[in-house]
This record gives sequence, C-alpha cells and structure tokens, in this order.
Amino acid sequence: MNQKVILSGMRPTGRLQLGNLLGALDNWVKLQHTHRCFFSVVDWHALTTGYEDTSEIRENVYEMVTDWLSAGLDPEKNVIFRQSDVKEHAELYLLFSMFTPISWLERCPTYKDQIEQLREKNLATYGFLGYPLLQAADILVYRADAVPVGEDQAPHIEMTREVARRFNHLYKPVFPEPATILNKVKLLPGIDGRKMSKSYGNTIEMSENPDEIRRKVTQMITDPGRIRKDDPGNPDVCTVFSFHGVFSADAVADVEAVCRRGEIGCVQCKKQLGEKLVSYMEPIFERRQQLTGKPEYIREILESGAKKASEVAAKTMELVREAMNLTL
Ligand code: TRP
Ligand code: SF4
Repeated sequence: MNQKVILSGMRPTGRLQLGNLLGALDNWVKLQHTHRCFFSVVDWHALTTGYEDTSEIRENVYEMVTDWLSAGLDPEKNVIFRQSDVKEHAELYLLFSMFTPISWLERCPTYKDQIEQLREKNLATYGFLGYPLLQAADILVYRADAVPVGEDQAPHIEMTREVARRFNHLYKPVFPEPATILNKVKLLPGIDGRKMSKSYGNTIEMSENPDEIRRKVTQMITDPGRIRKDDPGNPDVCTVFSFHGVFSADAVADVEAVCRRGEIGCVQCKKQLGEKLVSYMEPIFERRQQLTGKPEYIREILESGAKKASEVAAKTMELVREAMNLTL
C-alpha cells in the first residue's frame, strides 16, 4: 500500500477539550483510514514555554494519549509516539539550524504574538525562537506529504516547506514539500458564551461523563432578553444555539424557527441539545473508562510507537547525512 504520509502533533499541556476534539482529533480519526499517520505528543515543544516547571509533563503525556485513544485513534493503525523518544528529531533540528536564517524565525507571526501573550514568562530564549524549526524537523523527519493543523499553525507549515526547499537546493533533494490540511473550524464558545478557555472555567472537557455534560448544558447562557418561555427568542445571541449549530445539524433550522416564534422554552431546548451532545460524547467517555487505570497499556503504545517512528526517522537521517557528507 502506497499511502501518503501524515504527521501531526499536540503539546501535552493538560486535558483536551471539546474544541480539540472538533477542531483536530475528529479529523485525525478520519485520516487514519486513508493515510499512513504519525501522531506525536510533542513534549519538547511543551518545554519551549514550560521549561521552568516540568513536574506535570509526564502525567500530561499519558493524559493526552488517553484522550486521543478515547477519541477513536487506533494504535494499531497509527504510529502514536512521544517526540522526546525519537532523537532523530533533535538531530535534524540541529542540522536545519545551520542554514536557517534567524530572520525567518524572528519574522514568524506566532513568535511575536506568543511573547506578547505570555508576558509573565521569559520567552527570550533560544529554544522558543527555534520552535517552528523543531516543528519542521518533526514533519520532515518522516518526509510527510501533509500536515493537518489549525489555521494558527499555517505559517509553521509554510516555513517547513521553505526549510525543505533550502535543504534540497543546498545538498540533495531529500524532502517533499508538505501540504497543509486545514482543520475545518467549528467554533464553539464556552458555556458562558465567552471564548472557551480554562482560565474562564467555562470549558467542556473530552473526559466528562454524561451527567456532567447535561449539567453544563443546563448552565449555558441563553438569550438574556427572554423572560417568559413564550417570548420570542434571539438565537443569534444564545450559546445553546451555537452548540445546536454544531451538534444538531439536522434540526438547527427548526430550532431557530421555533425559538424566534417563542414556541419552545429554553429548558426544553437545552434538553434537546444535552441529549445530542451526550450521544456524541458518550462513546468517548466509555472508551476512556476502558483505559483508566492502565498506564502500562499507554506506556506500551508509546514504546512501540517510538520504535516504529524511529525506524522511519533513522532512514531519513541516513539520506540527510549522506546528502551532507556526514557519513564515514
Ligand atoms: N505547534 C503545534 C501546535 O501548537 C504542535 C506541533 C509540534 C505540531 N510539531 C508539530 C503540529 C508538527 C503539526 C506538526 O499546535
Ligand atoms: Fe437559545 Fe433555545 Fe432559548 Fe432560543 S429557545 S434562546 S435557541 S436556548
């Protein structure tokens, strides 16, 4: 089988949320049937901003793999591994650093943004500047054909192509220029209508059980102008309605109409959403139940993933060393 190669990764920074599921994992789960997929928990990338306190990083790696498997990633079909277990990423990153102009990294839009946003941290470090180059190595060490990512990551994939081009031009054509597969954005607000964010305490996590999900739906903010349940409602300002847009594709037009005519109460409308959301999340919750308390199973997946990833990465590095005259 000559399947195209996919690589993607996530930083292990804690439990995944509904947004990660819709924005990324659901796409990965689809791609696993048609592509040769490598999915990496990029713990070195987590260190670029979290180098001061590494006490939770191991735990977060296990947690993240558990979330991935719960979402339906099949460890038999895909190579699931931790970045720091495959040292070839580091070697390729080092070699790339020899010919990558600092200006490419300084100009990267995510660089200045993040320094601004994470002001409480000192990100004037070498490692943080090199973040996109390490990402390029993650991708190119598998000679990936495509990378599924969110819009925010597009500049990094563009830089990856530039690095590949530069290598191919300076030495020998070793790398394909990987395409970006943009995740379709289904933007979900938090349950209070603001941006979903841990710091606001308004998230829905992937690991929540059906009762927690139902409870969170009852807490969602609806049209604040609606007092009695037969007042006409305005779905445009209602969080419940935003969720219906994603989870009740078949019924959303109907919900909108009956809301505007005041023919449905918010309590009932939330009940309907709650059941939709539960039927979407319940299989994930159940798979997670099967996995909890089995860290040795996750560990085996990571060990065998690292072995499979290393085999491919080692072959690429032979080509790279040969192209650069670094062989004996
Ligand atoms: N930078 C990515 C993010 O924050 C994570 C990442 C690291 C990645 N290496 C990657 C994504 C390689 C895709 C491919 O989401
Ligand atoms: Fe929102 Fe539904 Fe209430 Fe309309 S009826 S305001 S869509 S919860």
